Amino acid sequence: MNSKELQQGLKELKYPGIDRSIGDLKLLGEIKVVNNIANIELLTISDDSYLNVKKLIEENYATQFDALNITKKNLEAKKDMNYGHSASPNNRAPYAKNIIAVTSGKGGVGKSTVSVNIAIALAQKGYKVGILDADVYGPNIPRLTNTDLQRIAWNDDNKIVPAENYGIKIMSVALTTPTMDTPLVWRSSVAVNALIQFLEDVAWGELDFMVIDMPPGTGDVQLTIAQELPISAAVLVTTPQVVATDDVSRAVMMFKDIGVKMAGIVENMSFFIAPDTKNRYDIFGTGGGDKIAQKYNIPFLGGIPLDMAVREASDKGEPPVALGSSEQKKYYQDVVDNILKNSDFTLDN
Ligand SMILES: Nc1ncnc2c1ncn2[C@@H]1O[C@H](COP(=O)(O)OP(=O)(O)OP(=O)(O)O)[C@@H](O)[C@H]1O
Ligand SMILES: [Mg+2]
Repeated sequence: MNSKELQQGLKELKYPGIDRSIGDLKLLGEIKVVNNIANIELLTISDDSYLNVKKLIEENYATQFDALNITKKNLEAKKDMNYGHSASPNNRAPYAKNIIAVTSGKGGVGKSTVSVNIAIALAQKGYKVGILDADVYGPNIPRLTNTDLQRIAWNDDNKIVPAENYGIKIMSVALTTPTMDTPLVWRSSVAVNALIQFLEDVAWGELDFMVIDMPPGTGDVQLTIAQELPISAAVLVTTPQVVATDDVSRAVMMFKDIGVKMAGIVENMSFFIAPDTKNRYDIFGTGGGDKIAQKYNIPFLGGIPLDMAVREASDKGEPPVALGSSEQKKYYQDVVDNILKNSDFTLDN
């Protein structure tokens, strides 16, 4: 196998856990085969990413050469890589001063609930806030904000008018389908185009913050968002049950690899408050979110209790931070205070 053939083959290898090839991700540097020894240079910013890709290449090519010599070229800020990193992504939302992406490795951990409540908590502080439902296959921001009966309209400038409630602007594919629960069977390229349209063709006005409810996992939509928007801060939501799983590590690694700054971790359904006695029960053990924050050296933003009232109110489109008890409000407001503390946002005052 010569250098060219090896380069072709390597380009096609899928990055572990992500639906992108290492060629797409521009992780390959110089590749040379000399005397049946393959010299492969990888362009990565993190050691983990280097080790991941090195292992992948060894698994696929170890038997085909006398030796593999896989080296790492450190790219400080990855300036010459043209996929999603905060150093120089495109900016499809120049009207937004700051962009907060709410993510999780796994589904069902409360990402959408957290997104809505932190968006509203920011609006309560007087900021202009929009929320973009990037979960194109399972959009539920309209239900959570009681805007699910609204349908999009167009203004005179031919821009989509976002829905609005609780002081925030809202855009979601669920507002564009005939009924909220119309299933979407889009190919990912179509989903990605819809998101781009929501960034470019919606009359958001000037925003201090755009909060993005990301779909679960580490797929195309996540990478697209990172490529097309300068994300100011990523907030990772997890629950005690999934805190230690590979999905969470993978999500953290992906954001590290693509150079997006993590604002920190929110541990949702962290402990249980008995409705009658208000006693606190740490049914899942304590400190999982805290531990993972330490492991990856990112801030812990706070824990939110497992509270049936949160679920019931959210299902009715009554966000706890807007209409809940003062305790419920405080959990989300504290998370927002910590996000503001841990990130360097662009703000007027
Ligand atoms: N702190 C909480 N206490 C009790 N229930 C909660 C809490 N947070 C979220 N839930 C409930 O858990 C379920 C999942 O929450 P949510 O839809 O926000 O998760 P998600 O991560 O966005 O899920 P998906 O991956 O499907 O988008 C919802 O029914 C929600 O009401
Ligand atoms: Mg969701």
